Amino acid sequence: MTESFDAVDVIRTKRDRGELSDGQIDWVIDAYTRGAVADEQMSSLAMAILLNGMNRREIARWTAAMIASGERMNFAKLSRPTADKHSTGGVGDKITLPLAPLVAACGVAVPQLSGRGLGHTGGTLDKLESIPGWRAALSNDEMMQQLEDVGAVICAAGDGLAPADKKLYALRDVTGTVEAIPLIASSIMSKKIAEGTGALVLDVKVGTGAFMKDLADARELASTMVALGTDAGVRTVALLTDMSTPLGLTAGNALEVRESVEVLAGGGPSDVIELTVALAVEMLAAAGVTDIDPSEKLRDGSAMDAWRQMISAQGGDPDAPLPVAPETHVVTASLSGTLTKLDALAIGVAAWRLGAGRARKEDPVSPVAGIELHAKPGDTITAGQPLLTLHADDPTRFARALEALTDAVETNDTQYEPTPLIIDRITA
Ligand code: URA
Repeated sequence: MTESFDAVDVIRTKRDRGELSDGQIDWVIDAYTRGAVADEQMSSLAMAILLNGMNRREIARWTAAMIASGERMNFAKLSRPTADKHSTGGVGDKITLPLAPLVAACGVAVPQLSGRGLGHTGGTLDKLESIPGWRAALSNDEMMQQLEDVGAVICAAGDGLAPADKKLYALRDVTGTVEAIPLIASSIMSKKIAEGTGALVLDVKVGTGAFMKDLADARELASTMVALGTDAGVRTVALLTDMSTPLGLTAGNALEVRESVEVLAGGGPSDVIELTVALAVEMLAAAGVTDIDPSEKLRDGSAMDAWRQMISAQGGDPDAPLPVAPETHVVTASLSGTLTKLDALAIGVAAWRLGAGRARKEDPVSPVAGIELHAKPGDTITAGQPLLTLHADDPTRFARALEALTDAVETNDTQYEPTPLIIDRITA
């Protein structure tokens, strides 16, 4: 096959701070997916993009080319509107679990294609797999049927969706090019647009436990993604939310399922409830539903009913006891005062070292490993009281986890200034 462009010319264009043409972008994504552009060439181009950026036209075209590399789902035949949520990932971020059935209970279908955890952030599928019998893989027909019958599906994205992104993301992971905002935005949005949702709410995390440590970067990522979604005809809005401390009181797979079920039962930690309800309101509004209060659906048990149906439809037993760690270790407070810091990254890394996460995508995860928090920033604590309980399959895991926690906690007597959980809302 005669190629219409030369990979080295495309790389040189971006290296020299030029704009890639539509033709160059379409070709390079297609040729990379087919194997006609080599990994070393694509990694060089990704680095040039990381260093020199892309403008709005280039990002939109790059995203469209990644969508065109695979199949595009279509939920137009469903009897209800669709809305999805994507979080850029954080520690203790179990929000998808109560959110999908809650939104379904309000009459909007949620086609949530989720991923597995890598590094210190957990993955939704890993969490749900701690429920006995639950399976992540569904065919497109099964997904459609469950959306019609139950209104919510959380499952693994099939191989057919944006295959160019799968290949490119794996390459970026090992070439120091994950952090480029145009590449993150196009990676996330190509999958969400190909998934076929009518409305999308983005939860862009900011803080130590997030991809974006800095508010200005998070804002830029959010507005880039909102523009991409809007231009593609998906009603898209983003919330910027704090990830300097974990969400809720648990980080770890079965521990987070337990906490999500507490929220669905009308209890649970206030930050998890606040964010779940705020995201539900946004998803419903983006899908055109403004007359239902999702908090009411948590109180009256209908969100819990939708959860039970959603879990059962994928082979899970919502009544089965969740697995529990055979080994625990309690960390106590060394000082009295106000807890001013409980660092999300440190807790995430410690939970990962306990076995809750994976270092390579082939690694298994432990359903029981993780951390329970007994206090949150702003709480008054007394020296000697339990602060954290570490959970693991194997007690030899505790030493390395404790190392990660060395600077995780700060206590002092100064006035504590809480960071708002929801920092800003970004629209087109
Ligand atoms: N998640 C994605 O799907 N892609 C990225 O590039 C970063 C996070």
